[in-house]
Amino acid sequence: MNLTVYKSSGLNGEFIIPPDKSISHRAAMFSALTDGIVEVDNYSLGADCISTLNIIKALGCEVDFISENRIKINAQNAFKKDRYNLDCGNSGTSMRLFSGILASRDLEARLYGDESLSKRPMKRIIIPLELMGAKFKHNQYKAPLVIKGKELFPIDYKTPVASAQVKSCILLAGLNTYGETKVTEPFLSRDHTERMLAYLDADIEYSQNISKIRKSVLTPKNLKVCGDISSAAFFMVAAAIVPNSDILIKNVGLNPTRTGIVDVMQKMGADIEILDKKLICNEEVGDIRVRTSELKGITIEGEIIPRLIDELPVIAVLASQACGSTIVKDASDLRNKESDRIKCLVSELKKIGVQIEETEDGFVIEGNVNSKLEGGCETECYHDHRLAMSLYIAGLICQKPIVINQFQWVDISFPEFLKFMDILQA
Ligand code: S3P
Repeated sequence: MNLTVYKSSGLNGEFIIPPDKSISHRAAMFSALTDGIVEVDNYSLGADCISTLNIIKALGCEVDFISENRIKINAQNAFKKDRYNLDCGNSGTSMRLFSGILASRDLEARLYGDESLSKRPMKRIIIPLELMGAKFKHNQYKAPLVIKGKELFPIDYKTPVASAQVKSCILLAGLNTYGETKVTEPFLSRDHTERMLAYLDADIEYSQNISKIRKSVLTPKNLKVCGDISSAAFFMVAAAIVPNSDILIKNVGLNPTRTGIVDVMQKMGADIEILDKKLICNEEVGDIRVRTSELKGITIEGEIIPRLIDELPVIAVLASQACGSTIVKDASDLRNKESDRIKCLVSELKKIGVQIEETEDGFVIEGNVNSKLEGGCETECYHDHRLAMSLYIAGLICQKPIVINQFQWVDISFPEFLKFMDILQA
């Protein structure tokens, strides 16, 4: 689907943001590990999370939709077969976390994915799992991965990248391994795995960038997923940069390992308020109000990067409307996402008139508060949902309409995106 985006005269109103992708994946995976029956409320219907549901079904779980976003998972017959062939689609989280889950079990599993996932780096999980004794077959550390599961040894591992997928993979292998498995990260990445495993009574300790786990049995408990701050980020940025905007986004996950976008917007001078904070299943949740704001450029680097890694493409759009330069550093892992997000973002934003330059580990933007972007061109999203949505937000402030080719990739994380955009612009 090629979509035309027109200049907006303002976003107004309130809505409930759809469920968090990272937490939904974990809710389905960990339910599958309980040997019991669990209900998950507010499960994401994005294609990535459906890939995870299909995988737990293939592993022997019964999955029933009780209502649109509420599922019942019966894991009493899971992991009974010797061999599995599992389709991870476009989902890096599914491939990396299931590798950790499967490597310690007496079975053989083949994990495969689409063209983009087959190019993404898997060495980062294969190395630590092999150190634990796991056996893999792969082609130069790329998917498809064949895992011959067996009993593993615990490790004390320092990850070279701050990646929640790598950390979670090792912790999930450790969950089924005698002794203590310890992971130390260079900077703290999102800690949904630790929080949900603790909620389900695993023997886990975590503080700052160190997490430790021992072999544990999970208690089947019902789970509720909060809204996705990474989806909310597109609307937060849109409201800050489109004139005459005032929106309230409800039920947003506010786990501090994910709120780098809020910190950055506040530092840039955005008019943003957090309201009605509460805790749901060990995760902070609240509402976010954003109004049109005057912004200034800043430098974004170091420990904050893993706390906003998925938001950097839309932060580039935000920075294009700020006074002065915004510099993003230490973000080279953006090149390993669903696309090379540095190269592709820079190429597409340049087309519509953003003054942006690529660097090895990020980009530099010269913002211009007074001149809107030119637009009037066709753009590509490179099969990348977050680039598609970031370009849409840029389109809202272009003088002439832009076309985004293959916009359907948005369905990977946020199939409801256009519905909410229409409501807020009605
Ligand atoms: C995720 C972790 C991040 C993020 C991805 C989801 C997760 O990836 O980019 O969208 O659910 O653990 P990395 O861990 O590779 O940084």
